Amino acid sequence: MSQRTLVLLKPDAVRRGLVGEIIGRIERKAGWAIVALELRTLGSATLEQHYGEHRDKPFYKPLVEFMSSGPTVALVVEGERVIEGMRALAGPTDPIAAASGSIRGDFGTIVRENLIHASDSEASADREIKLFFPGLR
Ligand code: RTP
Ligand code: MG
Repeated sequence: MSQRTLVLLKPDAVRRGLVGEIIGRIERKAGWAIVALELRTLGSATLEQHYGEHRDKPFYKPLVEFMSSGPTVALVVEGERVIEGMRALAGPTDPIAAASGSIRGDFGTIVRENLIHASDSEASADREIKLFFPGLR
């Protein structure tokens, strides 16, 4: 089942020089392909739409501040079961609880600064890809 998913390398990943390392892990998954990629600093309008589900949570404001604190790398990855697979590659939200071998487990210690976002369902992937790459066919 070929799918597409929206991945963000968060500002901490860019600041720490981990873009190549993380993209390398994605590229090495057999049959997956990067079909869109852009470096950009996210504004509050984009982030309100992207993280709207968290609007009423206590971590929302610091999350938006962090996510707009520097450039992010946005990419669309295509391939077999890539929605579930990218979530597995990233690891769970809390990097301390994430297993070694996952991106968050290998490089993170802070829940907010957990390096990477990946869409969590087909509906989220469709919505997020349209938000970040409206012209992508
Ligand atoms: P993401 O949406 O970024 O892929 O992460 P996720 O599904 O694993 O986690 P989610 O619950 O959707 O949370 C979104 C992002 O908000 C930050 N966060 N901070 N308690 C906290 O301080 C807290 N909880 C979540 C993280 O950056 C998380 O990835
Ligand atoms: Mg999420």
